[in-house]
Amino acid sequence: MRILILTGAGVSAESGIATFRGKDGYWRNLDPAKLATPEAFARDPKLVWDWYRGRRQRIRNAQPNAAHAAIAKLAQHANEFLLVTQNVDDLHARSGPPKEKMVQIHGDIFVTKCSRCESERRDDPPSHDYGAAGEKEPEGDIPRCPKCDALMRPGVVWFGEQLPWNEVTRVENYLNREPCEIVIVAGTTATFGYIIDWALQASRGGELIEVNPEETPLSCFATQMVREPAAIALPRIVDELIAGRSSKL
Ligand code: OAD
Repeated sequence: MRILILTGAGVSAESGIATFRGKDGYWRNLDPAKLATPEAFARDPKLVWDWYRGRRQRIRNAQPNAAHAAIAKLAQHANEFLLVTQNVDDLHARSGPPKEKMVQIHGDIFVTKCSRCESERRDDPPSHDYGAAGEKEPEGDIPRCPKCDALMRPGVVWFGEQLPWNEVTRVENYLNREPCEIVIVAGTTATFGYIIDWALQASRGGELIEVNPEETPLSCFATQMVREPAAIALPRIVDELIAGRSSKL
């Protein structure tokens, strides 16, 4: 059986990471044009880095929640599985789905990449071994590329930028092969057309389960709407799927 999971910021909300458009979301008080565009970075790279360094630190101090764990459990049980997350945090990765079953379509906040050439590095140990003391985000200067000396920037997708081609191809290859029996969309406002398109393409004929306390543009297409927080709903849904109570696995 084939499964597609699409997640957004709401899945990390119960780990204490702010959403963007939800209650207390970043974009309720901050202007994305000043923090999350190439123009903002060109204008004031320090302001942008300060914001991303603060977010990195909050993510380092956070722990995956029951929603991340449930998704990782489902990945182990399904024959074919892909998680596509819009989240740039590493909470899914820390809960365990193998890398090849996961796509971070908006990038990875712990990657630092050159604003001019292809050079990039990951600023956290790949083991995710944060240690008792926790690694601190270095303050201060804006990093420069060791190859071409241009300014380095966070490895995330900003407004007005293309999605990473490799990752889009991975999603499309998965969706083009066959429809999915189960599609779960959790914790996203589904603001971007490609999220809706992928959910609909994957679920043709199958179940489309939305997990979100609020209505979204996808709600009218869902075969099942679960208006609960992800850390409550997903462990139950996953256990039901694994137990075969929905006879879909
Ligand atoms: P949003 O902040 O737009 O949406 C968060 C969604 O999570 C809302 O629909 C909430 O109702 C829901 N939510 C809140 N708490 C929840 C919980 N405990 N359980 C389940 N759902 C909950 O976040 P995204 O849809 O992920 O882009 O935003 C998409 C993109 O817009 C982000 O990746 C980011 C942003 O600009 C980039 O960083 C490029």
